[in-house]
Amino acid sequence: MRFKEKLQKSLKDKIDPQLLNKLPSSYAVLGDIAIFHRIDERLLEHKKIIGEILIEIDPRVKTVIEQIETRTEFRRPEVRHIAGEKKTKTVHKEFNTKFKIDLNTITFSPGNKGERGHLIKIIKENEVICDMFACVGNLSLPIVVNNPSVTIYGIEINKEAYDYLTKNIVLNRVEKRYHSILGDNRIVTPKNVATRVIMGFFGIDKKQFENAVEAIKQEGWIHYHYIDSRGSSIQIEEIVSETTKLMNFKIEQINTRRIKKFSPRLEHKCADIKIRK
Ligand SMILES: C[S@@+](CC[C@H](N)C(=O)[O-])C[C@H]1O[C@@H](n2cnc3c(N)ncnc32)[C@H](O)[C@@H]1O
Repeated sequence: MRFKEKLQKSLKDKIDPQLLNKLPSSYAVLGDIAIFHRIDERLLEHKKIIGEILIEIDPRVKTVIEQIETRTEFRRPEVRHIAGEKKTKTVHKEFNTKFKIDLNTITFSPGNKGERGHLIKIIKENEVICDMFACVGNLSLPIVVNNPSVTIYGIEINKEAYDYLTKNIVLNRVEKRYHSILGDNRIVTPKNVATRVIMGFFGIDKKQFENAVEAIKQEGWIHYHYIDSRGSSIQIEEIVSETTKLMNFKIEQINTRRIKKFSPRLEHKCADIKIRK
């Protein structure tokens, strides 16, 4: 039986029958914490019981929270406790990688799991990767854990996220091959080192794209994440063409991919840009 049906059955006699259809149909689990995104306002007074039922039926879950995404530079999420142990810290395991996270201070998108798996698959031997928006290692840590020949430079501006990144590097025993850098990637991005640059952030500016190009040694891929309207397509060529004119490099290929639904009208996409100097 699906989660929503289980909820409906358990709540049948407890809430207004009209609300049964508004019950959440899915949730994400990070470590032992279950996360709802935006529960219907009308269910506000029933949140606790919804969370308690979830803990009963899903053995992985000890805590249930609601997380409201924010879109500021640091992406600090807003978290509300719903049921179970009052905590926001956990260790999430995915692709042989352990992520220590605090959901109160850090964004870790369960919806990017497909992208984490995709990156592990496409990375070749001995690549040097620059993750310009590393957070706690969300996209780059699984690569270095699953491929012992890869080296990563991970840049993070937010001290809290950076501290978790350094803890996760030690936890996963990749200290020798994952170099964490605290600071603004507009200033601290290394030059001429990488075969690949990951730009997992919405709202990349010109300076950041220039630095991604400078990070590439001779030729390589830049993974440029962005938000697009459903059904339409932003012309990435136009966004990067100014930099192409200013700097001495060629764009050999641009492939765009959909990563996930972001909201009813928006999609999270990635442009894979192959450049040669
Ligand atoms: C949305 S999170 C994404 C994490 C990961 N790249 C992913 O896609 O799952 C973006 C991270 O980039 C960091 N960030 C934002 N601006 C930055 C900058 N100018 N330099 C370095 N890090 C930055 C934020 O602090 C945050 O941890």
